Amino acid sequence: MVTLTKDRMMILKDQDVVPFRNRVKEYAVRIGMGLVNQTKLITAASELVRNMLRYAQQGEVFIEVVTQGRENGVRLTFVDKGPGIPDIELAMKDGYSTHRSMGLGLPGTKRLVNEFEIRSKVGEGTVITILKWKNG
Ligand SMILES: Nc1ncnc2c1ncn2[C@@H]1O[C@H](COP(=O)(O)OP(=O)(O)OP(=O)(O)O)[C@@H](O)[C@H]1O
Ligand SMILES: [Mg+2]
Repeated sequence: MVTLTKDRMMILKDQDVVPFRNRVKEYAVRIGMGLVNQTKLITAASELVRNMLRYAQQGEVFIEVVTQGRENGVRLTFVDKGPGIPDIELAMKDGYSTHRSMGLGLPGTKRLVNEFEIRSKVGEGTVITILKWKNG
């Protein structure tokens, strides 16, 4: 996989969410992603950025356009220095929430994208990478 462009955005407050969503949409449109996949990507991105603000207060997101063979895609990497996730397998279960919320954010996000990876260390933070192919 080759990275064609790389952009980054700091996420410090609720008001950063809409500009971030718009930026993700711009890259999706730029590679010609259809409306259905755009919506899946933006929905996934919104969940992860809301988790970032809720659990880690802030963080940053790298937005990349990537290519592999004939396929182009958008890859997003969410990096925070929050509390970390002690049990990733548990956090990925439908309905699991430490916030008395729906607990559908992470598992729902995974279902919306083509690739999904979490790395997390308690006390250090969390890195979540998602990838949506244009035609995926
Ligand atoms: N960036 C993060 N840092 C630390 N913990 C996290 C982070 N993201 C998720 N978690 C943990 O994983 C759990 C599951 O996350 P998920 O998004 O699936 O559910 P939720 O945020 O609790 O509820 P919902 O997203 O449905 O409102 C959270 O309750 C939280 O404990
Ligand atoms: Mg959530």
